[in-house]
Amino acid sequence: MSGYILALDQGTTSSRAILYDDHARPIKMVQQPTILKTPQAGFVEQDAQQIWQTQISCAHDVINQAGLLATDVTSIAITNQRESIVVWDKKTGKPLAPAIIWQDRRTASYCKKLTTNTSHDSQSDISSDVQRITGLRLDPYFSASKIAWLLEHNPKWRARIDNDEIAVGTIDSWLIYKLTGGEHVIDVTNASRTLLYDINKMEWSEELCARFAIPMNLLPKVLPSDGDFGKTKKGLFAKQIPIHAVLGDQHAALFGQGCLDAGMAKNTYGTGCFLLMNIGTKPKLSEHKLLTTIAWQKKSASFRSDSLSLEQIVKSGRRMLQPPKKEVTYALEGSVFMAGAIVQWLRDNLGMIQKSDEIEQLARQVDSSEDVVLLPAFTGLGAPYWRSDVSASITGMSRGTTKAHIARAALEAVAYQTYDVLIAMQKDSPHPLTELRVDGGAANNDLLMQFQADLLNVPVLRPKDTEVTAKGVALLAGLKTGLYDEATIQASWQVDRIFEPQMSNDMREQHLSKWQQAIDRALIVL
Ligand code: G3P
Repeated sequence: MSGYILALDQGTTSSRAILYDDHARPIKMVQQPTILKTPQAGFVEQDAQQIWQTQISCAHDVINQAGLLATDVTSIAITNQRESIVVWDKKTGKPLAPAIIWQDRRTASYCKKLTTNTSHDSQSDISSDVQRITGLRLDPYFSASKIAWLLEHNPKWRARIDNDEIAVGTIDSWLIYKLTGGEHVIDVTNASRTLLYDINKMEWSEELCARFAIPMNLLPKVLPSDGDFGKTKKGLFAKQIPIHAVLGDQHAALFGQGCLDAGMAKNTYGTGCFLLMNIGTKPKLSEHKLLTTIAWQKKSASFRSDSLSLEQIVKSGRRMLQPPKKEVTYALEGSVFMAGAIVQWLRDNLGMIQKSDEIEQLARQVDSSEDVVLLPAFTGLGAPYWRSDVSASITGMSRGTTKAHIARAALEAVAYQTYDVLIAMQKDSPHPLTELRVDGGAANNDLLMQFQADLLNVPVLRPKDTEVTAKGVALLAGLKTGLYDEATIQASWQVDRIFEPQMSNDMREQHLSKWQQAIDRALIVL
């Protein structure tokens, strides 16, 4: 079988399209930036139309630039920034408001009020209900409070909602609607980030929709990650291309990193850090403030060596007694809000560097950060603290502190936050962490990766191809159609460098106690 997979990767700051060949090798990539708007403190928005236009333009350009035709493309695969939401008119296909982005904190007081109003009555404590049903936490990060805010501020939509004229969706849902010309569907991993999806029953939660006052007819139909999402509408490409796989970006990265067995974990060092561990086929609620999320759900039979594909079963003449199971894999996740964004802050707000990758050179000018600790709570602290009221600080400076010490402290802060998440994850998970696979822009920073391995005291593995997000969803699409098999998956992940822990236990303890003091100070002050 031959053909190409067109992976669309709609991230927070750009839209990208990457073509993968029949060996899952990336052959061409096109990228366009998208604009984040912050009209008020705490608000983070994007023009949903711009998201669509940049994405479709990248899709057309990448096919042209690769010298291919749309007829060479067998599947589209979509991966996307999660939790962000779009509301649109089903008839015109036009957005009715700017997309509210995952970083938006406008609903912080709304979420706090919901918690306070119910916490006196343990029967209806919304925080524990939210965790029990969705695996998540009641936080403005997720989609539900963003949708509730839009509905509250647009009372005129009411009649149109009753007439089924309005749709709500995450970014995957919005792109699929535009690509197909009318399918209102969502992949299950994206649904699992809305705070409205029951990850045990695998359906929208009537109970939570009622509590957030969100009419259920606004919501898309939920499909497995390799479900049938429809075909591109006539005229968009030279042929109608089927959409064969959709995954939220962090879930796609877990898949693309080959973390297919329980206990395997990856950390993506992007704007924030997203650390996910595959925990197998049973959801386990975190007791240490992490999130339980759906890693992926496959409609097709398992591709692992211990089971046969549908095609193989047919070929081997075996009778199918039951249709293939819709296999669900779960993950534990720790979301850290500030990672690469700290370096951007040093670059844009303090002018310490011109380009982000200069940070490593600057940090290497000193052997240690001495007593300097940068606590990057610019938007509060995410996992495992979840304290939106903490603010950022730099402590431990002396007369001799230089830019290099601060740069080094900034990189160390990324590693410390990852350490905190992993410690929580180790307490929650029965699987000991034996290695950490890394990707994202800052995974190319050798100083940071070595410090990360030293702190965690496990090897950190960086693959040759760190574009694991688009590759992950492309692999899933290829597995579904038979373009790829287990051998393709094996071959698609190759190690570039292994960072072995080198730090002494004493030194590790010293570093960790310095960080812990800074955390304790920040939490106590409040
Ligand atoms: O949860 C938010 C995450 O999906 C955003 O990822 O890579 O677009 O910053 P990214």
